[in-house]
Amino acid sequence: MKKHIYLDNAATSHPKPEAVYRAVDAALRTGASPGRGGYQQAISAERLVFETRESLAEFFNAGDSERFIFTPNATAAINQALFGTLTAGDRVVTTSIEHNAVTRPLRALQDRGVTVVKVAADPTSGIVSAGALKQACQQQPTRLLLVNHCSNVFGALQPVENLGRWCRKQNILFMLDGSQTAGYLPIDLQALAVDLFAAPGHKGLLGPQGTGFLYVRPGLQLTPLIYGGTGANSHSDLPPEELPERLECGTLNAPGLAGLHAAIIFLQKTGIENICRRESGLIDKILQGLAAIDGVQVYGPADLHLRGGAISFNLTGQDPAEVGFTLDQQFNISVRVGLQCAPDAHKAIGTYPIGTVRVSPGYFTTEAEIEAFLAAVRQIAQNDRRDSGV
Ligand SMILES: Cc1ncc(COP(=O)(O)O)c(C=O)c1O
Repeated sequence: MKKHIYLDNAATSHPKPEAVYRAVDAALRTGASPGRGGYQQAISAERLVFETRESLAEFFNAGDSERFIFTPNATAAINQALFGTLTAGDRVVTTSIEHNAVTRPLRALQDRGVTVVKVAADPTSGIVSAGALKQACQQQPTRLLLVNHCSNVFGALQPVENLGRWCRKQNILFMLDGSQTAGYLPIDLQALAVDLFAAPGHKGLLGPQGTGFLYVRPGLQLTPLIYGGTGANSHSDLPPEELPERLECGTLNAPGLAGLHAAIIFLQKTGIENICRRESGLIDKILQGLAAIDGVQVYGPADLHLRGGAISFNLTGQDPAEVGFTLDQQFNISVRVGLQCAPDAHKAIGTYPIGTVRVSPGYFTTEAEIEAFLAAVRQIAQNDRRDSGV
């Protein structure tokens, strides 16, 4: 059996740094629920959660660590942000390249009287113009502008540098879905003037599955999506006013957060610029390799600097599902095929409903693995040409 090659880091990163496995194991063995007792074990679990929050605040230059709410994934963070800020009569501007983690809650909110405006992406690059987003926001009073920082389908980075500051002047909330950029690019939440930032801990941040977070800018109060025990203010049947407790009830995933903490330390030691450079180098290698194979069509920006960590492609006349199946069964290579939970993005770029083959390397992907992947695609393309007599 050939060595397994994992190229689906846009879904979840694999492998994780060794320190992450060790931290999860140690936290599970220590036990105790953070924030749920005054005894030493519970206090040490609580301290670990606090340190994880602190490390996130530092990593994303957010200032106040209490504004980070832990969630099981990015989807839960996005739902909390949207249901916690929007009510009937509100208007949201977003893009045509959003993941279903955004599209579906927005659809549910639309059914409750929220107006949703989707600004179209360029059909070739998949980039949504900042000017078009601003224009859409100005057409009618708008409560929230929500942008997917980088498409999980074709890796188009969105031009968000000035949007937050612009929104602040207009009194519009600015939210970023950082699912594909957290841990991949340097992100400064204060400089970007982000009001709400949702991200998974288990993708680029290299933490365990079951981790994610929502950052809420100081001064912004959200309605909780989930109600329950917080370990403090137990006498009241109302949720606490303060963060993080207000939006964080029920037992936290302490082992997962211990792993996330270890992952953030790894990212800080390695340096986000080095991580970004390494992954961008791998993306470049894949793009150049795919461009040299007859019958391959790659989607998304031509310029490497406008790209994140995911590449979508198709082989002429071949069903992406079959290409993915062959890569898995014959070559032991894991990629993601189909719509990647983002049908709107495929509609935007013309690959709906069949979708694409998506390849996403990670920090630990080797050059040799990329070469093996390219050789496999070359062979699949050649076999198809031979079978069809071309
Ligand atoms: C852009 C984007 N948003 C949201 C999500 C949802 O992330 P999670 O699986 O952590 O809920 C993903 C996951 O692929 C994504 O790529």
